[in-house]
Amino acid sequence: MQITSTIADTRAALKHRGRVVLVPTMGNLHDGHIALMREAAKHGDTVVASIFVNRLQFGPREDFDEYPRTFAADCARLEAVGVAHLFAPDEAAMYPQPQRYHVDPDPAQAGILEGAFRPGHFRGVATVVLKLFHIVRPDAALFGKKDYQQLMVLRNMTRELALPVEIVAHETVRAENGLALSSRNGFLAPEERIEAPRLYRALTRIRDAIRGGDRDFARLEGEAVAELDGRGWKTDYVAVRRQADLQTPSDGDEALVVLGASRLGQPRLIDNVEV
Ligand code: PAF
Repeated sequence: MQITSTIADTRAALKHRGRVVLVPTMGNLHDGHIALMREAAKHGDTVVASIFVNRLQFGPREDFDEYPRTFAADCARLEAVGVAHLFAPDEAAMYPQPQRYHVDPDPAQAGILEGAFRPGHFRGVATVVLKLFHIVRPDAALFGKKDYQQLMVLRNMTRELALPVEIVAHETVRAENGLALSSRNGFLAPEERIEAPRLYRALTRIRDAIRGGDRDFARLEGEAVAELDGRGWKTDYVAVRRQADLQTPSDGDEALVVLGASRLGQPRLIDNVEV
């Protein structure tokens, strides 16, 4: 696997490499990332991973400093899965001067749900992803559905700014007990690991109720929050939304998604299930 850390080296290395497929990550790779790498290989000739813990998408009281950095282990996993190229800039290479220009996603899409609890998060995500696209110049890029709102924001950014990149979504990868794989799961204490799949179960119960014809979304959401918080979680939201734009559904809307974010001990877990 070829590794570059500067913008110029990366552009030079990725010339004439056929159809390039990018999988952006912040490292600390788990099986969910590896599934994305495997899927990426089906969408082009050269799979490029990036590892960059992007300060811009962390709020002032969030876990940027604690975010796990496991570069050597990540490289070994990427090599093993056959990734051709890794772009791993440090902060000075990625942001050679303070980043004064940003992508500001529509607040109607980026200021709700995650954006309401993490102000500026999607501005940071959109800015770094646009920049990664300009550096790697991929033909396609893969993102996991676990970060459902991120996927929507990035799809819309790509479409509205006419970026020549195909956005490919990948299903959430789960542990056998249903827990969505996430780098932040590493912060769960052993007893929290047993409790953690409850968020997924709460969301799937709402999904099943909706499939069974129950459209009292407010009651379903309230019951899920009460269940989680009754067991010591601190829930930010459980919400039934339209898949397309994550707005509150109206009567005829059928393509729905149930999203949730809740803190279990220190880690804040997010998950979602499509209806
Ligand atoms: O999903 C992530 O890991 C990050 O938000 C991303 C897309 C790599 C941007 O920093």
